[in-house]
Amino acid sequence: MTAALDDRFGPFDGGVWLNCAHQGPLPHPARDAALDAVAAKVAPAAMTDEAFTDVPARLRAALARLIGARDDDVLLANSTSYTLNVVAQGLSWRAGDEVVCVDGDFPATVLPWRALEDKGVRVKLIGDGDGRIDAETVAAAIGPRTRVVCLSWVFSFFGHAVDIASIARACRERGVWCVLNASQAVGARPLSVASLDIDALACCGFKWLCGPYATGFGWLRPELRAQLDYPQPHWLRAQSARGLDRALDSTLPGETTASAFDVFCNANFFNFAPLAAAVQMLGDIGIERIAAHDQQLIDELIESLNGSEYKVLSPLSGDQRSTLVYLSHQDPDANERIAQGLKQRRVSIAQREGRLRVAPHLYNSSNDIARLTGALSELG
Ligand SMILES: Cc1ncc(COP(=O)(O)O)c(C=O)c1O
Repeated sequence: MTAALDDRFGPFDGGVWLNCAHQGPLPHPARDAALDAVAAKVAPAAMTDEAFTDVPARLRAALARLIGARDDDVLLANSTSYTLNVVAQGLSWRAGDEVVCVDGDFPATVLPWRALEDKGVRVKLIGDGDGRIDAETVAAAIGPRTRVVCLSWVFSFFGHAVDIASIARACRERGVWCVLNASQAVGARPLSVASLDIDALACCGFKWLCGPYATGFGWLRPELRAQLDYPQPHWLRAQSARGLDRALDSTLPGETTASAFDVFCNANFFNFAPLAAAVQMLGDIGIERIAAHDQQLIDELIESLNGSEYKVLSPLSGDQRSTLVYLSHQDPDANERIAQGLKQRRVSIAQREGRLRVAPHLYNSSNDIARLTGALSELG
């Protein structure tokens, strides 16, 4: 029996939340930080000048620790798309340049490059549309005009995790930037950017990091950053260095850290104070422990579906298995009815492309998996 790894979540009011790939629930320390932020806005005397620099600094440090990065290389964002667009819009392009993406990837990973097609940039989609992409396929797709390879670490619609270490190495060896969408992975899979050849990482804050919606962050390797021409002048960023009481200086700060690309109003108290609390909490628990817990629950799920009317469609074992498990009834036409039945029984999963997606995280337990498999068996 696996207990929840941490009880500072919920209450879920009798429901079971197995849909972290859609939204991670806010843990109690993050809820408290959000309530404090609301209280300080209701009575603004509680809002200090220092908080305008403290909140982004704390968040940046917590995120940097989580991914083994330097604070200076982390930017604060409002989504995954934000960071991907900073890179896509910030690089300079010539007609005929090429970006390699993966067929079947989540649209956020592809659309920022599609927006460059007007400039004559070609987006080349590779793979068989099932997220199973390896370093050889990526290497074979890289041509003389390829500038960027951009892909997800874990594929939202298939639950398949790619071997990002070897894919990034293949890009580096060929002088191509490797841009990673890690939104379905960071918080549930250990990561140290220092040990990978990726050049940029984009992630949202509202899934496996259990932060509020409309949050995210990015990591930019200094060599890539130096190539980006994407000015984001914002007075508060400039004042952060000088102090809020010295707002008369209207010169650009000229900083070279990733914070130059932060989303505007990076003290965003309602969102970033709770995200910082959530990320600090996950970091304190340890991502290795969280990953082991999540995988244990997935073992239990797969085992109990053995010999049932259900098939597991995502990878069953190994590094390719993620925390997104795709299931289908033997009769795929039954999936719609089964999804409705689960909803009535207050077991929350996602239905994507006609399949059932289960995504457990640290607040789930064996009991939650048993609730799901019991309901699946009744509905099968
Ligand atoms: C792989 C992936 N990337 C990004 C997102 C979300 O994108 P954004 O943070 O830009 O809204 C999702 C989920 O909704 C996703 O599954």
